[in-house]
Amino acid sequence: MRYIGNKTRLLPFILRTLKKGGIPVGSVHDAFAGTASVSRALKAQGWRVQSSDLLMSSYVFQRAYVVADFADPLLNEMAGELAALAPRESFISRHFSPAGGSESGGRMYFTPANAGRIDAAREELESWRKAGRVGEDSYYVLLAAIIEGADRVANTAGVYASYMKRWQPNARRAFAVAPEVPVKGAQPARAHLMDAIEAAKSIGEVDLLYIDPPYNSRQYVAYYHIPEILARGWTESAPAIRGKVGLLAGEEGRSQWSHGRRVQKLFSALLSATSATHALVSFNSEGHLPPEALLSLLNKASADGKVTHYSQRYRRYRADSDRDGRHYHRDIALEHLYTVRLR
Ligand SMILES: C[S@@+](CC[C@H](N)C(=O)[O-])C[C@H]1O[C@@H](n2cnc3c(N)ncnc32)[C@H](O)[C@@H]1O
Repeated sequence: MRYIGNKTRLLPFILRTLKKGGIPVGSVHDAFAGTASVSRALKAQGWRVQSSDLLMSSYVFQRAYVVADFADPLLNEMAGELAALAPRESFISRHFSPAGGSESGGRMYFTPANAGRIDAAREELESWRKAGRVGEDSYYVLLAAIIEGADRVANTAGVYASYMKRWQPNARRAFAVAPEVPVKGAQPARAHLMDAIEAAKSIGEVDLLYIDPPYNSRQYVAYYHIPEILARGWTESAPAIRGKVGLLAGEEGRSQWSHGRRVQKLFSALLSATSATHALVSFNSEGHLPPEALLSLLNKASADGKVTHYSQRYRRYRADSDRDGRHYHRDIALEHLYTVRLR
């Protein structure tokens, strides 16, 4: 899905760097898993993967794309059923589409028709889980497909911090549920809905720690509040929301790593907490940690006094919002990877 910092395009660079760095396939902790793109690629290479993230939406992706390995023969049939349900007016309709009238503050994240379909699919899936109609693997695979399907018809410029004031072509398309069939990994995987440092302590020894934290002040829980609401659901207790765009009201999911002054301390704490043999760090220089500060942290943690740096130029697409709708422009960015032996 469209996600700031999603490493999908950089996977060949990451895999190449592991090879060049002489880090063989083994066990890994992907500490800031996000869309789980890196965990998923490592699973496919035969790694034993453990992953963590503060967000429930990321946990859903980790479960769906990495942990799940049972391909239910009825998966596509169930997805078709979820997408074809009669629309319901529930949480998403009331708060994130004009169907909610004054309660939604006129928020135009989804057309009323799509909001009703998303509400129906999300609630039905929850009732299947309660009734035992769907196993845990398929539950997460279908939930990930609902979140990704909703993202494809969201009337935004890529993140949910604001919505467009006119319906964009993608928002007018019908919501669909397209599940990804799980692939059995060579090794079982585990997902953690947990802070990276806590997870590193609880996971213990691994061959590799992959570090890809937020490097600027954007709070992922605020940029992706609707995927997070879809992941958490609302049948047990309705999420409290606030403000113009309906952000989640609580502190849950908010990250310390988005506070510039704390990143250096948090980095050191993570490097002390892990029992990994190697670390692989993704870094981009547009955040609030200067490259010299990162290098000095890694040097201190290095067991052999060496830190290896790799960089690659890549083309990225940025979405700008303006009155006329979605506009993407391309620019060239530099992505950095550092490898270091910790013990
Ligand atoms: C740059 S993104 C990771 C992108 C990921 N590698 C991918 O390919 O999608 C950073 C992630 O760190 C998560 N995060 C922020 N603070 C965290 C913390 N204290 N512990 C674990 N994850 C955290 C965010 O929720 C976000 O998903």
